[in-house]
Amino acid sequence: MPSSQELRVLFITPEVFPLCKTGGLGDVSAALPIALRSLQIDVRLLLPGYPQVLAGVKYKSKVAEFNELPQFPPATLLSARLSLSKSEHIPVFVIDCPGLYHREGGPYMDALGRDWPDNALRFGLLSKIGAILSSDASPIAWQPHIAHCNDWQSGLTPAYLHYHAGKKAATVMTIHNLAFQGIFPPGSVVQLGLPPDSFDINGVEYYGNLSFLKAGLYHTDHITTVSPNYAEEIQTESLGFGLQGLLAGRRQHITGILNGISTSEWDPATDPHLAKNYTNKKLSDKAVNKSTLQQQMGLAVDADIPLFGIVSRLNHQKGTDLLIQVAPQITKIPAQLVILGSDHAELEHQLTALTQTYPHEIAVRIGFSEALSHLIEAGADCFLMPSRFEPCGLNQMYSQRYGTPPIVHATGGLLDTVVDCTPITLANGSASGFVFYPMTAENLLNTIKRAATAYHHKKNWQRLQKNCMAKDFSWHTSAAAYREIYLSLLP
Ligand code: ADP
Ligand code: GLC
Repeated sequence: MPSSQELRVLFITPEVFPLCKTGGLGDVSAALPIALRSLQIDVRLLLPGYPQVLAGVKYKSKVAEFNELPQFPPATLLSARLSLSKSEHIPVFVIDCPGLYHREGGPYMDALGRDWPDNALRFGLLSKIGAILSSDASPIAWQPHIAHCNDWQSGLTPAYLHYHAGKKAATVMTIHNLAFQGIFPPGSVVQLGLPPDSFDINGVEYYGNLSFLKAGLYHTDHITTVSPNYAEEIQTESLGFGLQGLLAGRRQHITGILNGISTSEWDPATDPHLAKNYTNKKLSDKAVNKSTLQQQMGLAVDADIPLFGIVSRLNHQKGTDLLIQVAPQITKIPAQLVILGSDHAELEHQLTALTQTYPHEIAVRIGFSEALSHLIEAGADCFLMPSRFEPCGLNQMYSQRYGTPPIVHATGGLLDTVVDCTPITLANGSASGFVFYPMTAENLLNTIKRAATAYHHKKNWQRLQKNCMAKDFSWHTSAAAYREIYLSLLP
């Protein structure tokens, strides 16, 4: 049995910061492997070769060809290095398959927001090569003990491995969001080279279709999800997305491990995207970021008005509709709103319309901007995250580290990471934001008003900010928890 120093893990993921990121999975796919590598675990990523991945990795060399996988176009496996900073590097394997990955647009959708029609093949190939590299059929010498799959895009890896008769790695499947399952018509089963009898309730079938995620959850050795609270919630009807039965049946094999954050990427003392860096010793410097943000977004520049920030996908999960409902009343508190995000076209449109009615109080930027997301974390007074459900959520942790207390709905990882501000929690030093429940527009608005009132009590507010900034959201503990799971799966 290898010790943790000899442990080899193939981390299979469809996105990684900074090369390709649509949400938290991109951040986690960079920060967790770095943390595991600092525990001496030999983690390597397996990624699809989108143009930005091929352009962004260094020292590429060809290590294998996959020309004879009957279901897939020819592909080349490259070994390369992803550098995150001068001292942080991750070895990566990149699948260079021009027929599936060389195209303009996002990893899952084209520029008009339509799913790529060949997503089953695109992520079938990621899963398939993940399985081959994790078995004795691998053409390369480096063989992992563990195949660590992330979300539906690598969900078929455990299924392919199940049907492989030879030696193979153990598998861990991490659920970052159960709402996305990778569902394709039944004919995809044979197209992707899975045996016809795998299409069964005890297999890859999900309500008459193929589900990549279900396939992974059914066949994997261990399941993790990204917060302890979400690990319980997904076993219930309200948040199980039809998989609650399977998950409850496997509860002995499910572990909720809270995500950490990259404390080097998200550090107000050194963040290059800020107008002024600051620490908890000199919070007055944070104000420069507020005035810069107000100016940059065309809002009235006013140090006293509470400013609420949002960086989010704009959709039903994130509660954008409720926010739109209460936005006019927020301006009357008085308070300001800055929103950065994109996703659902109708919600984007409604938000933009609000800025025409309230040009000095509400500012919206539709799109994706890493730089502005950092400035909002620093320049806002409070961060808003009224998610209906949230497997973990990273922004509420970034905002606490930036002394910007979050307002959150009591769900998933939000509940695991934010402590509601009351006289008692403020006195005992645990208060770190504002929590509301249940999820109604009225509760959201009242909690925003509660935060705005608290904001005007400067001494208490500073205490709250310092509590937030003192919390440890590093990957340290969570990376060790993953290591324990890996070690428990070895023969
Ligand atoms: P999710 O993965 O469900 O979208 P998380 O809170 O886990 O939610 O992670 C979201 C990540 O994506 C954060 O790093 C956040 O800053 C980033 N993000 C989301 N939308 C945008 C945007 N429009 N511009 C820049 N970063 C964004
Ligand atoms: C998903 C979830 C989010 C989580 C992220 C990283 O996108 O929606 O809550 O933080 O994955 O695990």
